[in-house]
Parts: sequence; C-alpha cells; structure tokens
Amino acid sequence: MLIAGNWKMNLRYEDIINFKETLYDLNLDNRVEMAVFPQFPLLYYAKKYLLDCNIEVGAQTCSSELKGAYTGDVSVEVISDIGCKYCIVGHSERREFHNETNGFVKKASTLLLSKNIIPIICVGESKEIKIKKTTNQFIKSQIKECVPDNINSNLVIAYEPLWSIGTGIIPEYEEIFNVHNIIIKELSHIENLKVIYGGSVNMENCSKIFKLNNVHGALIGGSSLKFKDFLAIYKSAVKQII
Ligand code: PGA
Repeated sequence: MLIAGNWKMNLRYEDIINFKETLYDLNLDNRVEMAVFPQFPLLYYAKKYLLDCNIEVGAQTCSSELKGAYTGDVSVEVISDIGCKYCIVGHSERREFHNETNGFVKKASTLLLSKNIIPIICVGESKEIKIKKTTNQFIKSQIKECVPDNINSNLVIAYEPLWSIGTGIIPEYEEIFNVHNIIIKELSHIENLKVIYGGSVNMENCSKIFKLNNVHGALIGGSSLKFKDFLAIYKSAVKQII
C-alpha cells in the first residue's frame, strides 16, 4: 500500500521539521509505504531530512522535456538527482491551471520511467461526466491516452474524481471499487501496479476505503497537512493489511 501526502502549495521548511517530530512514535510497516510531496524548493531538504525515517519524497509534477529553454520548469533529471522515488503527473489542478493534457502526461511519464522514477498518474471524472453516467468510458480513454505504451511495471494510478477533491464528498464505496476494477483490468499487463484513491480522504472515511480490496492506498491533500490526521490515516492502512 502507498499513503501519499500531496502537500500542494502549502507548508514550509519548519513544517518538515515538525512533521519529522510527529513521526517519533510511528512504527512504519514495510507493507505500507509513506510518501510526501512538498513544493519543489523543499524537495532536496525533505529528502535529506526524512532519509532516516524511511519516508519517500516525491515531486508534484515535472517537465515533459528532458532539458533546455523551458523557464520555470523542473526536469526529471534533477528530480532523479534528489532521489525522488515518485512524481505525480496530471493532477487535476495541473490539468486545469497549467494545461497538463493527457499527451503531456504520457510524455512526462515516459521520461520519468526512463530515470527510474515511478509516475503517479492522476485520472478522474468531472461532475458533468458523473451525471451523464459516462465515467467508465472516460476513465478508460484517460488511461489509454496517459499511460506510456511499452510499460510493464512500476506505475501508480491515482483515481481522483474531480468533484471529490477538496470538497469533503467522496463517491459511494462501490463506485470507487468499480472504477478501480476498470483501471486494473485495463492495465492488467503491468506488474506491481498500484491503484490508489484520492479525493477528500480523511480519518473518518479512510478505513472503509482501505477495506476495498482493490484500493492500494491513497493520495491525500487536505488531511496530509494535519500531520496527526495523516498519521492516523497511515495507521488505518496498516490495520487493514494485518
Ligand atoms: P484532498 O486532495 O484530499 O484535499 O481532496 C486530494 C488531491 O488533490 O490529491
């Protein structure tokens, strides 16, 4: 399982120190990995500072180009130099505010995999698509357009319904189960594929989500900023696999 904290454009240097302090009584279980995704300038520091806690650190996006005249972008080479295991690609906020298209996601994911960084590809339907009841087809085509063609291992898909992100509303548990099944079927050729759920995961709803046997973890925004909640969610994931 993977419990991933997407810190978005929140938290600062001193918060990383506070975060480490809250970890002191946490027994990490090697079957449940914890990863945090701070802002770019904090990545190097977070990686170094959290190294002895066995917490993975990842980037929130990357460039789809290897290097060159792309002012403000960050290359997968630098993300790899820092030692990031994961990089989120195609988060809905990146799609909305920075024009990350499915084509971008495929290209960036291919680059990431070439540097042995595991992409966490975000997919998810809008409210309109949900109302039209075309979620399944939409997710299938997103997967087809986002996942690199010749990949056979090392991929995480985050199913994040757009209407659930930051709203406190989550799908019916059965809906999560069904969409995860579709993703797993579409990508059955990929070894050690993880499909994690994201969108308003919190201390109250997480245990029911983790009870679904095709949920391999969570991508957590708001609740990952409250470290006690984030740790409680982690502990709930550990409980599910015992
Ligand atoms: P949320 O965000 O947990 O605040 O809904 C999830 C995400 O955007 O990855």
